Amino acid sequence: MRLGVLGSGSGSNMQALLDAIDAGTLDASIALVLSDHPDAYILERARARGVAAGVIDCGGFRTKFPAEAQVETAARLRAAGVELVCLAGFLRLVGQPLLDAYPGRILNIHPALLPAFPGLEAWKQALAAGVAETGCTVHLVDAGMDTGPVILQERVPVLPGDTPESLHARIQLVEHRLYPAAITRVAAQG
Ligand code: GRF
Repeated sequence: MRLGVLGSGSGSNMQALLDAIDAGTLDASIALVLSDHPDAYILERARARGVAAGVIDCGGFRTKFPAEAQVETAARLRAAGVELVCLAGFLRLVGQPLLDAYPGRILNIHPALLPAFPGLEAWKQALAAGVAETGCTVHLVDAGMDTGPVILQERVPVLPGDTPESLHARIQLVEHRLYPAAITRVAAQG
């Protein structure tokens, strides 16, 4: 299974996928990593591991993912032979151009138990809501915000004294196991 990863930030999930591939627990390869931020650490992590990495030009829009940029992204993923697209901290909403290029073949990892707390900084939303547990979800991407069918979820407790940082760090440890497992499940379904 040839993967393409899109991310806007640190890329710890992308790193976890590479580690799982190296450890033999994920039967896949990462063919291309793309980021909408030229300085994103995910690009550095990819290049350090010899993975092709590049920047998506979003034409100066801060949050929008322009249709032309999506068409271009799909073309680059296709040219790299990508079969499954993994969003890993990618902060733009994917729309029809990219969804149509990879129907049912785009995954996302979200730091909450969807449908609870969709959108940005879900761990802060969970803390503010005072819930006793939250978690993370890998789901198929559709045109909504974090609304697609769930593939795998895992619970994470909220502990007394948790800060946004401590809670997010605990969720991320689980994400790093959950994402490779979810990709394995999707690959097995063919
Ligand atoms: C993760 O918490 C993921 O759930 C969310 O964004 C964060 C990305 O972290 N969508 P990283 O860039 O993989 O370290």
